[in-house]
Amino acid sequence: MRKEVDFLVIGSGIAGLTFALKVADHGKVIIITKANAEESNTKYAQGGIAGVMHGPDTFEKHVQDTLECGAGLCDEKIVRMVVTEGADRIREIIEWGTRFDKNEKGDFDLAKEGGHSEHRVLHYKDATGNEIERALLAQIQSHPNISVYTHYFAVDIITQHHLGEEVKRTSEGTECYGVYALNLRTNQIETILSKVTLVATGGAGQVYRATTNPVIATGDGIAMVYRAKGQVKDMEFIQFHPTSLYNPGEHPSFLITEAVRGFGGVLKTQDGEEFMEKYDERKSLAPRDIAARAIDNEMKVRGEEFVFLDCRQIPMDKFVEHFPNVNQKCKSIGIDVTKDMIPVVPAAHYICGGIVVDEFGRSSIGNLYAAGECACTGLHGANRLASNSLLEALVFSHRASLDALASVAKLNYREEVPEWDAEGTTQPNEMVLITHNLRELQDVMSNYVGIVRSDQRLKRALNRLRIIYGETEALYERTVLSPRLCELRNLITVAYLIVKFAMLRKENVGLHYSTDFLVTSEAAKN
Ligand code: FAD
Ligand code: SIN
Repeated sequence: MRKEVDFLVIGSGIAGLTFALKVADHGKVIIITKANAEESNTKYAQGGIAGVMHGPDTFEKHVQDTLECGAGLCDEKIVRMVVTEGADRIREIIEWGTRFDKNEKGDFDLAKEGGHSEHRVLHYKDATGNEIERALLAQIQSHPNISVYTHYFAVDIITQHHLGEEVKRTSEGTECYGVYALNLRTNQIETILSKVTLVATGGAGQVYRATTNPVIATGDGIAMVYRAKGQVKDMEFIQFHPTSLYNPGEHPSFLITEAVRGFGGVLKTQDGEEFMEKYDERKSLAPRDIAARAIDNEMKVRGEEFVFLDCRQIPMDKFVEHFPNVNQKCKSIGIDVTKDMIPVVPAAHYICGGIVVDEFGRSSIGNLYAAGECACTGLHGANRLASNSLLEALVFSHRASLDALASVAKLNYREEVPEWDAEGTTQPNEMVLITHNLRELQDVMSNYVGIVRSDQRLKRALNRLRIIYGETEALYERTVLSPRLCELRNLITVAYLIVKFAMLRKENVGLHYSTDFLVTSEAAKN
């Protein structure tokens, strides 16, 4: 089965949908997405989208906050570009029907989150992502040039490798001709040839046991591009959100938005003591790397499994108005936020690294763009400033669309691409091997490659990963493809990259923190 299309978009989160809307007047667009159209990290974004909309905020303040949070590893040119272009991109999604809360004066009700020196986060209650996704999908559905194929799983990016040529990571001129995708309704692998392809497959939180990311976040795009010999970087910088709801057995973890702390919520130990002043003068509103490490340290020192977020001092009517979903969720598990403190624990939340792209979202592979969480643009450096990722996705999808529109007329389909070869494979008869290896992988990453690392832990992780990799590849060689197996392979690749990049980073910076680079007294605490 073959399809041909001008623009192929992999993923239906904010990055994929906005790119599709921007190119659709100039050619046919197919969006493939592995679950329902709305299922994405985007849908679960709570806090909002950072943007400089009016004074007293300025572009310069947002630039400085982003640079400071990124711990010296941001690309300043990219930071300035995203911050200054971001406001126009936000206005575009408002024109497409996205609603953001306003105050009585009719101005945007801007929230504050960790690391921001101003109130600058536009939001729709505590369900901003859901609102953005709703508005974008409504636009997509009314565009005659866009087809959305749900339950289509992108397996591999097609390059010269599939035409029998040798492709190396150092090769010049590697090009993308489309993807092989598994149609989950027919179980057939289809060849989709495209002139331009955008990878917008989101993050990889599922590589850890505790994560705020939904189950689709398996790093597929990053792994596919890496397999196709594209460049990736900054993979060691995994952001752990300080406050996911402590609710054993729930997976993924429910997020308690940082905006709650911006609204007056205070972190406390189980005996009700504030502790953040020991770690940062911004206390509960310190950037995430600092807050997550502080919580991790307090839990380890005290031998406790969570800390508390105390919201009892916030007027209840205001809390419910701003955070109806958080309130509802707490209520559903018996927590009354007016009387009880909320138990919270850090959870894997965001991957700062990914597919290397330039200022137009171009990857190192020709005709292949990447945007959103799967891309590494230089905006975040060693640590992402809260609510900068939705903004980044908008700016880079826009810029990628400009570049793609300028080149698409000169491109042709590579008709000689062969069909997927499933020769010699059989139906898997032991799915349990996949689920066990996934669980083991998540345990290894959580135990050895979490918030605090060391060379010894990283080496252990690498050894364990080699075994899981070997077993999974053997399974892959002999069985018919299934999405679970593909996701496991992709997660193993992502895990391997996180560990390898972490081993190469010989300093503590931003989200990478190893006890090997501490003075002895500090190391003893960890
Ligand atoms: P996603 O929105 O994750 O979309 C990826 C898409 O790719 C999905 O449709 C998925 O199904 C599809 N896909 C993946 N693999 C394949 C495959 N192999 N084949 C086909 N389709 C595939 N950021 C902020 O800026 N502000 C916030 O307030 C905020 N809150 C957050 C709260 C939570 C709980 C989480 C998890 C994240 C939050 N983030 C926030 C981060 C932000 O939501 C994401 O970084 C952003 O939405 C990523 O958008 P995206 O388009 O790159 O990817
Ligand atoms: C949150 O609402 O705390 C998440 C914001 C983000 O990840 O940017």
